[in-house]
Amino acid sequence: MRKTIVAGNWKMNGSTLMTKKIIIGTMARLWDVDFNENLEVVFIPPFIYIPIASDLVKDSRYEIGAQNMYFEDKGAFTGEIAPDMLKDFDVKYVVLGHSERRHIFGESNEMVAKKVKKAVEKELVPILCVGETLEEREEGKTWDVIREQLETALSQFDTLPEIVIAYEPVWAIGTGKAATKEDAEEVISKIRSWIKEKFGTDEVSILYGGSVKPANVENFASSQEIDGALVGGASLKPEDFAIIVKTFVGRG
Ligand code: PGA
Repeated sequence: MRKTIVAGNWKMNGSTLMTKKIIIGTMARLWDVDFNENLEVVFIPPFIYIPIASDLVKDSRYEIGAQNMYFEDKGAFTGEIAPDMLKDFDVKYVVLGHSERRHIFGESNEMVAKKVKKAVEKELVPILCVGETLEEREEGKTWDVIREQLETALSQFDTLPEIVIAYEPVWAIGTGKAATKEDAEEVISKIRSWIKEKFGTDEVSILYGGSVKPANVENFASSQEIDGALVGGASLKPEDFAIIVKTFVGRG
């Protein structure tokens, strides 16, 4: 099912106090939002704050995500987090293949694929991030790069698993320079067609990510192609994050 999903990726930001302020502050501003079964609002704090976050959203319609996980169940993998550990704290979503993981920590398409497989097996919902660098875009390789990212991550499935895809052009992440509505729509509709061709269904939520903020969210929310947003910087400010959620909710 295509859901409207607004997810806040806090990255390596936060503290105990900030976790409470962001979550309580967001919830307070969204008290009158109608959470029908089509809307998901997700907080994605650093691992260490997940227990606090999970506690705060207990018995609410908000969901918790993780920023990463490892593809093994347990064992000698110092510093890694296993899927069952996330499930232990009611985590529903896990961001996989974020461009910062790919580019700063050297995660390959193959590693992302292993993580996607494991997450699906463990009934976590991957938020699979795909996107091109500025150089790749300027060389006209945008779709080739994204197709390869999709193919490697999803070719291991015969049927479409429960998954969310986030199109995040690398040049738009954390730069303040978001893609235009047209750029985002063009890539997202290609992703949807690719999914339809491969799996015979296009019932998948595809989000846009990269410098989404109150000043530009209307661009994305007004598009029929775009099912929601993966928000970085603006998700740390409850007043901004709440506006982003409300803009998607209000698009009718
Ligand atoms: P940004 O980050 O909104 O700060 O650009 C988006 C993301 O990395 O998911």
